Amino acid sequence: MSSIKDAKLADLGHQEVDWAARQMKVLEDIKTEFSQTKPLEGLNIGACMHVTKETANLMLTLKSAGANVALCASNPLSTKDSVAAYLAESDIEVHAIHGVSNDEFFKHLNAILDTKPDITMDDGADLVSLLHTERADLPVMGSMEETTTGVIRLKSMEKNNKLRFPVVAVNDSDTKHLFDNRFGTGQSAMDGVIRATDLLIAGLNVVVIGFGDCGKGVAERAYGMGAKVTVVEPNSVRALEALMHGYEVKTSINAAKIADVIISVTGNMHALDKQHFDVMKDGVALANAGHFDVEINLAALKEGSTQVDRVREHVESYKYNGKEILILAEGRLVNLAAATGHPASVMDMSFANQALAAEWIKDNYKELEPKVYTLPNEVDLKIAATKLGLMGGELEILTEEQINYLDSWEHGTS
Ligand SMILES: NC(=O)c1ccc[n+]([C@@H]2O[C@H](COP(=O)([O-])OP(=O)(O)OC[C@H]3O[C@@H](n4cnc5c(N)ncnc54)[C@H](O)[C@@H]3O)[C@@H](O)[C@H]2O)c1
Repeated sequence: MSSIKDAKLADLGHQEVDWAARQMKVLEDIKTEFSQTKPLEGLNIGACMHVTKETANLMLTLKSAGANVALCASNPLSTKDSVAAYLAESDIEVHAIHGVSNDEFFKHLNAILDTKPDITMDDGADLVSLLHTERADLPVMGSMEETTTGVIRLKSMEKNNKLRFPVVAVNDSDTKHLFDNRFGTGQSAMDGVIRATDLLIAGLNVVVIGFGDCGKGVAERAYGMGAKVTVVEPNSVRALEALMHGYEVKTSINAAKIADVIISVTGNMHALDKQHFDVMKDGVALANAGHFDVEINLAALKEGSTQVDRVREHVESYKYNGKEILILAEGRLVNLAAATGHPASVMDMSFANQALAAEWIKDNYKELEPKVYTLPNEVDLKIAATKLGLMGGELEILTEEQINYLDSWEHGTS
């Protein structure tokens, strides 16, 4: 029995899901194949993902493969109630309502585990965490993880011999993190900042904290819109890369002093803290695009503030030391809370990886150890080749002579 906001929203959800499907042709190919071969026949799949129109297409693909699918939200603010209603109508068990409390959120996670999933799928390792604590009695074949933060947690569990089943780090596939994290987060995080504030980005000092795949994408998009971009990054190679890209590279304190907008994408806690709030300019807008809402120390901001007002749908104004600091989307993923997340075209590749990972776990789980795995490189190459073709690109084909030359050690200076 699903828990959703309103079943009457299903028609709207259907429209949205179909709209996303137009841009998800790699996944559609997999769905067509899965409908015929039924590789997941009879398996229970439990997923904890952002409940969006793109995720809906993944759930329908898994269902077409013969699986019984149950879905809850990985973030209560990203849930689209219309999509949840449509999935519930499509014979998928859904436990997701936009904006639910923390208590309800955990009830939904547990409801997914009550379906006794054979395979689980996470965006942030929430189901896997429960499967290692309160629900450690449940047997599973394996799991898949969508995001960097989840993979970091899982690798730490593996290192400490705590992991009790294999997990595929879907995030680590090239056709996931090089595109979704970079182009998806880049575009949608800027989209979230703009929808929340209506700011003109051109000419602003935009600070990007963290220059990983996501940070690179955000910096590129802000730069492309005319911002003066400053990057904060503790890894010297990445910091140098940012500098040679043409961005300013500063410490977090020095960057905080000049910023008009700050976007944090570190996967770390308290990238913005009291010492930064103290030196910020009046009217600065702070957003987080990292997975958890821990990147901005909101408790410290609140403690130092005399007043907090919601001044716009996704904007809270904190009166702090005689100035105003604006927090977008309550410090949660700005691209999903204030905008509609990654565009379908990029999720097409991420979710093609997820669908194939489910099949891979089912085919291989008996031989796998309780470790974090990455899908074989051929999967990446196949997904990339399909997407390239769909987007009108042409792939060069090497001649036998060229392949032999590259393979041989005997050729040198002639
Ligand atoms: N918004 C989204 O839709 C979305 C999509 C994909 C990933 N994510 C999340 O975004 C975060 C970043 O992902 P990624 O793939 O770019 O990770 P990454 O590991 O490639 O990059 C993170 C970068 O942040 C740097 N960093 C760490 N702590 C820092 C600090 N205090 N100050 C400055 N820099 C710091 C690291 O050195 C690293 O270069 C993760 O939490 C990930 O789960 C969000």
